Amino acid sequence: MRIIEAKDYQDMSKKAANILAAQVILKPESVLGLATGSTPIGTYEYLADWCKRGDVDFSKAATVNLDEYRGLDHDHEQGYYYFMNKHLYSKINIDPSRTHVPNGMEPDPAKESARYEALIRSLGGVDIQLLGIGHDGHIGFNEPNTHFDVDTHCVDLTEMTIEANKRFFASADEVPRQAYTMGIGTIMRARKILMIICGEDKADITAAALCGPVTPEVPASILRFHQDVTVIGDAAALSKLPR
Ligand code: GLP
Repeated sequence: MRIIEAKDYQDMSKKAANILAAQVILKPESVLGLATGSTPIGTYEYLADWCKRGDVDFSKAATVNLDEYRGLDHDHEQGYYYFMNKHLYSKINIDPSRTHVPNGMEPDPAKESARYEALIRSLGGVDIQLLGIGHDGHIGFNEPNTHFDVDTHCVDLTEMTIEANKRFFASADEVPRQAYTMGIGTIMRARKILMIICGEDKADITAAALCGPVTPEVPASILRFHQDVTVIGDAAALSKLPR
């Protein structure tokens, strides 16, 4: 695992965008695993800017997102497809038919989970997976005590996650109680992982994930068993790592 300390959010975002851009330059048909949340917004801004300038060409790339709320459609403003379209897809020259997010409207969780997993396989697997981290150590929506070997599935969100994500909704009551997420097994099959973390509020969970025991209680801790992980954190997020 490589741990890179960034000066601040902008620096973290630029470094992460550089790694994703390099991936697409080296392999134009890359499959990018992408994430939502506040953390990657700056990374997407850099990618959009560099694409506009002609420095990165996404025309042959494909994307698969980590997760989507169950019950929200592509046009729902708090849904993750809408987020991705707003922050990235609409600003780069990617073919929309090659951008994928789990279908939150599929009523049969087993069917949608199997479809999404098969889709990822049919694309040849994920070349690089971008991840943020939740305050409880979740990655995607893999909450604490999820089995490490599961594929895409439907999860019940924890109160902590509902509380953290209510800022995007009118109230906590409006936050969906379930979501589709790539499983830890799906994430671990990505050829490379790029995790970005910022803010003092993530310092404790960052130290637990990167330096504590590898345990399902801290889902992100499993990443230490992946062969190619880069973590970029700002100084505040990395402040509790042993020096
Ligand atoms: C959500 C997403 C995660 C994301 C997490 C942290 O729960 N499902 O993929 O990593 O939020 O979000 P933020 O970056 O806003 O702290």
